[in-house]
Amino acid sequence: MVLGLRAMLPRDRAPLARLGVELFAEFGDYSQALPIWLRSPGHWCRVLADGSEAPVGLALVTVTEGPKRSRQGYILALGVQDSLRGKGWGRKLLKDSIAELHRRKRQLDLHWIHLNVAASNRPAIHLFESAGFRPSPGEIARYGDGEIAINMRRALD
Ligand SMILES: CC(C)(COP(=O)(O)OP(=O)(O)OC[C@H]1O[C@@H](n2cnc3c(N)ncnc32)[C@H](O)[C@@H]1OP(=O)(O)O)[C@@H](O)C(=O)NCCC(=O)NCCS
Repeated sequence: MVLGLRAMLPRDRAPLARLGVELFAEFGDYSQALPIWLRSPGHWCRVLADGSEAPVGLALVTVTEGPKRSRQGYILALGVQDSLRGKGWGRKLLKDSIAELHRRKRQLDLHWIHLNVAASNRPAIHLFESAGFRPSPGEIARYGDGEIAINMRRALD
């Protein structure tokens, strides 16, 4: 199967929302949030697509307000279809998202990238740590099911 990364097209929204609901089901019900994120201005999405152009992975990125009205990049969601994991696509999607935030760094005055990850999600924590993310100080957040969400950040330098 030929796989590749590309920008999101309008026709991807519905299949991406279905894929995201499936990929993130263990962390909560994202069936309401994902369709909103995928059509909101200020959110952008890189898509991993297969030979038939169907989405099989995604990285959804936005910009949020940080301390003292600063702005920071935020990786809202990153996921790869179960059967395609462990082949480097998650890392490519993450790298692409960081590169996109770099491109917008000056225009949007961004200095940090943040994300939340479940404390039990070893593969994702390993991936984020190896890309330079570290747990950020602050309050501990929790997902809907009570699982601890670690906030990780990386300087956008
Ligand atoms: C996290 C996720 C995106 C990684 O995608 P992937 O395509 O498997 O990742 P890659 O193949 O690029 O591997 C990235 C790193 O994770 C490691 N990894 C992959 N699967 C792993 C596992 N089961 N256990 C431990 N580490 C693992 C790899 O070893 C690799 O590190 P390395 O390059 O040092 O060997 C994928 O597991 C996923 O979609 N999970 C469900 C959704 C999710 O949890 N998203 C993250 C929070 S939003």
